[in-house]
Amino acid sequence: MAIERSAAKRPNWSSGFAFIMATLGSAVGLGNIWRFPYVMGQNGGALFLLMYILLTIFICSVPLLCELLLGKQMRRGVIRSYEKINKKFSAFGWLCFITSIFIPCFYFVVGGWTVNYIFIYLFGTIPVNEISQATFETFAAQPVAPLIMGIIFLVLCAIFPFRGVNKGIEQANNIIMPLFIIMLFFLAVTGLFLPNSIEGLKFMFAPDFSKFTFTTVLTALGQALFTLSVGMGCLVTYGSYLKKDSDIIKSSGLLIIGNTIIAVLAGIMIFPAVFSFNLEPSAGAGLVFITLPKVFAALPFGQFFGLMFFVLLFFAALTSGISLLEVSIAAILEKFKISRKLATVIMSSIILVFMFPTTWSFGFLSGYKMFNMTFFEVMDFTASNILLPLNTIILCVVVGWILKPKMELLTNNKKFYDVFNFLLKFIVPPILILLMLFGLGLV
Ligand code: PHE
Repeated sequence: MAIERSAAKRPNWSSGFAFIMATLGSAVGLGNIWRFPYVMGQNGGALFLLMYILLTIFICSVPLLCELLLGKQMRRGVIRSYEKINKKFSAFGWLCFITSIFIPCFYFVVGGWTVNYIFIYLFGTIPVNEISQATFETFAAQPVAPLIMGIIFLVLCAIFPFRGVNKGIEQANNIIMPLFIIMLFFLAVTGLFLPNSIEGLKFMFAPDFSKFTFTTVLTALGQALFTLSVGMGCLVTYGSYLKKDSDIIKSSGLLIIGNTIIAVLAGIMIFPAVFSFNLEPSAGAGLVFITLPKVFAALPFGQFFGLMFFVLLFFAALTSGISLLEVSIAAILEKFKISRKLATVIMSSIILVFMFPTTWSFGFLSGYKMFNMTFFEVMDFTASNILLPLNTIILCVVVGWILKPKMELLTNNKKFYDVFNFLLKFIVPPILILLMLFGLGLV
């Protein structure tokens, strides 16, 4: 294992395909399935989609490329990458490291819920037409069961970084992502054949100028950053396993296109079905754990479709979970010169400790609130509204003004490089500051 600690012998993705599958695996997660389609429907439909695409291309692609560049140039995890620019920047790396602990603390709890629903639909422990809102609420409020499910999810995520970049992370994504895409296509096409499916499509796509406000723009931007896994060093870490000659512009383009298509397909999978059975559309846990089980109850072969959907959701969360863990594992492995296996055990244990209070936020700790939020909500809010934008602002400033990335690592097109640099230095940071103030409720 000593090999991984020096840049020269750092593991490399064995192909461009492996890199795309890994970054797509990181990007495609709960954000695509339970948030994007609903937010799109709520914020002007096709107009929102257009805005989202423009913001992704002109704003989000900049920090995205920055993260990949930083990783590719430094060939280190997030802490050592910042330290290599300047010892004094160590804290910026640690801030990303902390973010990579915060997010799993709530994300993995939800991952555990998907495992529970897989068990329910697989073994039929509860008859399909009896799975209700109460099923979810009773389960989430228990002290032990959701914790066990969360631990199962954590262990399943940890196995892959534990085995290594090629034998673990790469293999998992190479198999799971194509499977995920096939299943998603299958379910989306099935959804379209349901009676009245057109209503669901109208909800998602019909352009509605009245719903389109300044808030919409900032919502689209926040969603785009989160869903592309920008802002905590995931892409620095995955980028650090790239070969020097890899084309990150092409990969980023494919990543952005793939991630957007998958988010739209997720909506096509969900909303026609929801409207077909006259249910109310919503987002988040309520949509997937309460509304959709009602759809499966009414559908022929509901148990089969339910199982397939929750396996799909589990795959999405798993591949994102792997990338979340890899950030902190890669960071401490080289910082403290320990083995990959030990780093995995340490990071999983730290996350596990925090998963107790986040899990219990739905049970006996639900009354304990800070700033009117449960512990689960505090972790989510701090990570999504403070840490992710803050890390992204720091990244743009440090890379744009101090590191000044070498042109040949990015492109050989001088014009493209100039536009990139201009956006990076002058446009993206102020917009991100605005986003952060908005997230904090200050604008
Ligand atoms: N992109 C993932 C999603 O959409 C979440 C994530 C955020 C994963 C940040 C890694 C880093 O669900």
